Order: sequence, then C-alpha cells, then structure tokens
Amino acid sequence: MKGTFNGLKVTQVSIILIGFVCATVVILAWTKTTFLSSLIPSQSSILRLNPEIPPSIPGSESDKLSEAKNSSKQEERVGVATISSKQNKSSSTLTEKKGCNYAKGKWVIDDSRPLYSGFGCKQWLSSMWACRLTQRTDFEYEKLRWQPKNCRMEEFTGSKFLERMQNKTLAFIGDSLGRQQFQSLMCMVTGGEERPDVLDVGKEYGLVKSRGSVRPDGWAYRFPSSNTTILYYWSASLCDLEPIDPSNPATNFAMHLDRPPAFLHRFLHKFDVLVLNTGHHWNRGKLNANRWIMYVGGLPNTNRKIADIGGAKNFTVYSIVRWVNSQLPKYPGLKAFFRSHQMPLPMYPHLKDSEFVD
Ligand SMILES: *[C@@H]1O[C@H](CO)[C@@H](O)[C@H](O)[C@H]1NC(C)=O
Ligand SMILES: *[C@@H]1O[C@H](CO)[C@@H](O)[C@H](O)[C@H]1NC(C)=O
Ligand SMILES: *[C@@H]1O[C@H](CO)[C@@H](O)[C@H](O)[C@H]1NC(C)=O
Ligand SMILES: *[C@@H]1O[C@H](CO)[C@@H](O)[C@H](O)[C@H]1NC(C)=O
Ligand SMILES: *[C@@H]1O[C@H](CO)[C@@H](O)[C@H](O)[C@H]1NC(C)=O
Repeated sequence: MKGTFNGLKVTQVSIILIGFVCATVVILAWTKTTFLSSLIPSQSSILRLNPEIPPSIPGSESDKLSEAKNSSKQEERVGVATISSKQNKSSSTLTEKKGCNYAKGKWVIDDSRPLYSGFGCKQWLSSMWACRLTQRTDFEYEKLRWQPKNCRMEEFTGSKFLERMQNKTLAFIGDSLGRQQFQSLMCMVTGGEERPDVLDVGKEYGLVKSRGSVRPDGWAYRFPSSNTTILYYWSASLCDLEPIDPSNPATNFAMHLDRPPAFLHRFLHKFDVLVLNTGHHWNRGKLNANRWIMYVGGLPNTNRKIADIGGAKNFTVYSIVRWVNSQLPKYPGLKAFFRSHQMPLPMYPHLKDSEFVD
C-alpha cells in the first residue's frame, strides 16, 4: 500500500478499521503472491476504511464500539447480498487476479457457513465469548463471507489454510478483540473439532502462567501436520510496559508510548503474519487501574499534545506502525496488519461516509 497521511508513510502495514464484534470471524487468504487479508464483520455494522488511505487513529474515549448501526437495516442489506452471492457464486467473471485488492468488497450471506458451531469448539473458544451461549437471538452474522469486488477469493478450508501456512507463524497481538480473533481462527481451522494433535508451544514464546496470575499473557499452538503456529499475545495498548520500581509489588508501570511491546520486539523475526490491534483500553479509568504512566523517550511524558488519551493513543499507533514498517525490510516475508475499531465519523473529516460503511 502506498500513501501518506499527516506525514506518516504507511507502505506496508495494512490498516483495517472494524466495528464492534461479538463473535469474530477472520478471513485469511494466503496466496502464492503472498497476500493476506483480514477482515471482521461486526454484528450490526461493518466498517472499513478505504485501504488506500491509512487513517490517523485519534482516540475516542473508547468503548463506543457498540454505537452500532440499526440492526434491522443490516438484515436488509445482508438479505440483498444473499441473492447476489448465490447468483454470482459460480460466475466466471470473477477471476483470480494478481493485483486484486481483497480489501475491497462486501459481506455476503453464504449458506454453507458457519465454518464451526458456536456451541462447540470448547478447546479454543472461551465460553464468555461464545455468542451461542448467550441470550443473543440473531445469528445471521455466522453465515457472512467476505466477497472481494471483481475478484475471487478461494473458499476457506482449514486444510488449505494449513497447507499455505506450512512452516509459518501467525501472531495476533492486541487486546481482547485480538484474542477473539485468535480463538475464532483456531475454531475455523479445526472446524471446531477436538484436536488432540495440536501442540501447545506457549513455552517457546514464554507464554506460561506465572504464579498468582489468572492466565498466561498469551497462547501459542502448533499444527504438527503443517508446522503452522498460531499465537496470541495480550498487549492492550501496544506499548512496552516496564515496572518503574521492580522491587515494589505495588509499583506503577512506565507505559512507553514510543516503544513496541517487548514481546513483539523479541519475536518479530519468527512471525510471517502479524495482526496488531488496540482500542478499548485507551481510557483514563483503565490506565489508572493498570497504574500505567505515560513515558516518551524513556522519561515521563511532558508533551501536552500527547498527554490526553486521544493524543497518546494516536502517538502510540503511529509509533508502532512506524516501527513495524522500519522492520519490514529485514523480514521481507512478513505481512503486517493493524486493526482498530470504529471511531465517530467526525474524527475523520477527510473521509466521506461512503468510505466507512459498505
Ligand atoms: C497523530 O499523530 C501523527 C504523527 O505524530 C500526527 O502527524 C497527527 O497530526 C496526529 N493526529 C491527531 C488527530 O492527533
Ligand atoms: C431502526 O430501524 C427501525 C425500522 O427502520 C426504526 O423503527 C428504529 O427507530 C431504528 N432504530 C434506531 C436505533 O435507529
Ligand atoms: C452479481 O451479478 C449481478 C449481475 O450479473 C451484478 O449486478 C451484481 O453486482 C453481482 N454481485 C456480486 C456480489 O458480484
Ligand atoms: C517448522 O517451521 C520452522 C519455521 O519455518 C522451521 O524452522 C522448522 O524447521 C520447521 N520444522 C519442521 C519439523 O518442519
Ligand atoms: C517446511 O520445512 C521443512 C523442514 O525444514 C521443509 O522440508 C519443507 O520443504 C518446508 N516447507 C515449505 C513449504 O517451506
């Protein structure tokens, strides 16, 4: 991708904006020409940035994700898509083009879906995120399939995915949206079936539960048949966090806005696909509760432009995208993606509504 925005050159890190997600669905296509697209339908609104325009990521006081669109409208829209999806499914006009922009397209209903049952997949899917185990009544979203415009994307099957991802590692790093995406992908690849052959390789990445903690900082699993590793690491802010006084159990943490999480720094060389996200945790309450103190250049932040949450988040997102971009020449096989969440439209005065909503 080419483009500049506010002086930030985003050459390779794809930026995809998403809406609120209940059950996350990931669509990954890995072709010989190494293209990967990762898109997420939301339960009630599907938002997408024009991928040619890297967005600025100004902060909202977050957690406004559910300011969703009217769900009845959504059903209408999906309903229309159903028909065209069926009509065009075997259409020969859709050709697999090398230069195809998979990020442009729309969601259609595909009756051959879901790819796994939300009642199952107990091995990977946390029950608190299993929409089928909640009071929810509409499950239309389970059938959504991404239909790129004017080009064909192969049907997702777990076996093909693993074949293409042979010897490769896919890493999700971010907050709970990334965790859901990780779980969802595990379910998609396994079809929700129990897979005792899949190896827990968390140790290789230091992802072990430390004493006193509820869970490890992430998980890593390997499919031995194809030597494919899928992992998730919890980093809600995409900042490096450092205890200010390591000897004090109640220490505050330096939240280095301009440094990538240590985990990412340490393991980037092992990744073939990296999916980053941040969003929800940028609010004063969460920062205070986590005892995070903003640091820039190794010192407590004094820049007033960065001091407010929106400014800090924007600064951090630019920093991490810039850092990953700077690493790409070293790892030419690496595909990196940054995901954020829905922002109120006025945050993007330079974009038209049509560029947000399908
Ligand atoms: C976000 O950060 C970039 C890079 O520092 C800056 O150019 C831009 O003006 C900032 N945008 C907002 C909305 O603060
Ligand atoms: C949703 O759409 C319905 C029917 O079009 C309408 O009656 C309702 O007020 C809308 N709700 C919202 C929150 O926009
Ligand atoms: C399906 O084909 C019809 C006409 O052949 C076209 O108008 C419509 O846009 C197509 N839909 C998709 C999803 O490609
Ligand atoms: C698995 O993939 C890794 C990374 O590409 C490679 O170093 C390793 O040799 C592979 N192992 C096997 C058993 O194929
Ligand atoms: C995967 O790694 C193994 C062992 O290093 C190698 O024999 C095989 O050719 C590799 N496959 C691909 C697709 O790179």
